[in-house]
Amino acid sequence: MSERILITSALPYANGPLHLGHLAGAYLPADLYTRFQRLKGKDVIHICGSDEHGVPITIAAEKEGITPQQVVDKFHTQNEETFKKIGIDFDYFGRTSSEVHRKTSQDFFKNLYDQGLFKKKKEEQLYDEDAEMFLPDRYVKGTCPICGHPEAYGDQCEKCGSSLSPTELIDPISAITGNVPILKKTEHWYLPLGDFQDRLETWIDSRENWKSNVIGQCKSWLDTGLGDRAVTRDLTWGVPVPLPDADGKVLYVWFDAPIGYISATKEWADLKGEPDLWEKYWKDEETSLIHFIGKDNIVFHCIMFPAMLMQHGDYVLPKNVPANEFLNLEGKKLSTSKGWAVWLHEYLEEFEPDLLRYVLGTTLPEAKDSDFSWKDFQARINGELADILGNFIFRTTSFTQRFFDGEVPALKDPTETDLNALKAIQKQKEKIDAAYENFKFREAIAETMNLARIGNRYFTETEPWKSRKENPQACANTLYICTQISGALSLLFQPVMPLKMYSLREQLGIPHITGWDQINDHLVPAGHLIADHEILFKKIEDEVVEQEIQKLKDKAKAAEPAAKKFPPLKETATFDDFMSLDLRAGKIIKAEKVKKSNKLIQITVDLGFEKRTILSGVAEYFKPDDIIGTSVCVVANLAPKKMMGIESNGMILMGEDSEGGLHFVSTDAEPGSPIT
Ligand code: 2FM
Ligand code: ZN
Repeated sequence: MSERILITSALPYANGPLHLGHLAGAYLPADLYTRFQRLKGKDVIHICGSDEHGVPITIAAEKEGITPQQVVDKFHTQNEETFKKIGIDFDYFGRTSSEVHRKTSQDFFKNLYDQGLFKKKKEEQLYDEDAEMFLPDRYVKGTCPICGHPEAYGDQCEKCGSSLSPTELIDPISAITGNVPILKKTEHWYLPLGDFQDRLETWIDSRENWKSNVIGQCKSWLDTGLGDRAVTRDLTWGVPVPLPDADGKVLYVWFDAPIGYISATKEWADLKGEPDLWEKYWKDEETSLIHFIGKDNIVFHCIMFPAMLMQHGDYVLPKNVPANEFLNLEGKKLSTSKGWAVWLHEYLEEFEPDLLRYVLGTTLPEAKDSDFSWKDFQARINGELADILGNFIFRTTSFTQRFFDGEVPALKDPTETDLNALKAIQKQKEKIDAAYENFKFREAIAETMNLARIGNRYFTETEPWKSRKENPQACANTLYICTQISGALSLLFQPVMPLKMYSLREQLGIPHITGWDQINDHLVPAGHLIADHEILFKKIEDEVVEQEIQKLKDKAKAAEPAAKKFPPLKETATFDDFMSLDLRAGKIIKAEKVKKSNKLIQITVDLGFEKRTILSGVAEYFKPDDIIGTSVCVVANLAPKKMMGIESNGMILMGEDSEGGLHFVSTDAEPGSPIT
């Protein structure tokens, strides 16, 4: 990694508080990386801010009966505070409603416009006649044309992950009035992403050390082929389009939000009194730009924003985008509307920040979705932080206090066992360093804890409580070495638990040591005094986690009426409409995951009279082998649709339960029988 690193983490929408999923997706990994690189003495800044535009904000305002500005003011302040308390060390936390951001994103748009990049197109879009407005993005809901999920949004189906445009939805309804929208023409500016196809492919292929989940998603977008993407919207909330013929139009939130990283860096530089300093981070090829995001943001950071940066020409492109997958909670998908979330500000009322940082750090969804559970939280704190790390520090410091008057003894004539324990410091340091550099934070944390394990084993093996009487120098050696391991741990664990490790360094009398290079096997010199200290990690009682689990269940119950709200009935279908559908009984005889797709399963259905290939977006719910032999109902005369290069011929009917689980609609009739 170069000497100068610009780290960004996804700007959270200022429409609600932050939960565990946010922390595990982007902010904790970004902070671990920032703190690690800072320890190494790199010139690193970590930039973030509130994403204050877009439909999520205006919908929140309408729900609460307040203005969008009031919504973003409230959550910008609250979220900034939460980040501080949980120890996310931003150099600057900006907001996209700022004046600097308005100007920066308008200038960016204007630059691309003046280069003749955008296509201006008049197209039909969904319009709510009662609300008198167009319905972009999340203002419209309907059935996903890919997987049949009945509650897909106009910009995305959260079930199968497909990116959609509102007009693709089947049976769309307005999220404002519940009306069925009409189609009305409107004019917008489009970014012709297809023009960047080759450049983006070459660029993605040249990326080194990118995570396979990120590359996989990029390739799948590129393989599908890139099209024009509208970068303006008919809305009143957002950055006004800086053109004379653009009244009532604002920039698409995904056009202005990533530019927010640039504007926030400008504001940071202004605040430092060096207004030009931002350019060093954005324009000098020696800078490594790293975006930390969740997987739902990959296309914007790896395709759309890079295309914008390429065209603009003045800026560096991301060096890496180490996107994380999603975090589940107690085995279920996190859902704020279903009350299935642990809010960070609520967590902080009960527990210390470093505990969560450690536990989440060990379970980050780096390569696949992972799970947070309160029982695991307790097990890791009690079994790892208290029993391994805390116990090792306590044994070392209390023994030194009791038998050496708190003074670190000197090392003399070490045995091979002593030397091996000392050498472990350097060995572990190298492993940890490599893991951090490669964005493998779980591994970095596990290897750090392994050093505490090595320390504990060594302490037990050398039995200082015996050697104290039989061979005082051997006892002194043990304590010297354990103190060195403790000192090293206080820095190696610094990115994960900054507060706890600072207090450990204070106890060891080395609070001033703050550099990775200073981590060695003689960090705390002989003769140095170690202070008394209260226990570093207290165990968590069973009742405490049970209370948390109960709290979670209560919140989910309280949210139930909303969660159980069934989608409104669609418009009446005529008898003929219904009769035009040919529903047949079928049996799944083959199923396999579609390569490069996380969602799709390619299913072969025996319809009695023929065998059909049908693609179904259910890979997150079923293992292909488990569904072979299942009886299903099939819409057998649906027009074919190609996805990921495979033609799908029909749709398999599914029912969705209130927990978001999917169930096949099955029948005992023999394959091929009509369902009437
Ligand atoms: O998904 C989100 O929460 C977006 N607000 C992230 C924006 S990231 C960046 F581009 F600003
Ligand atoms: Zn879908």
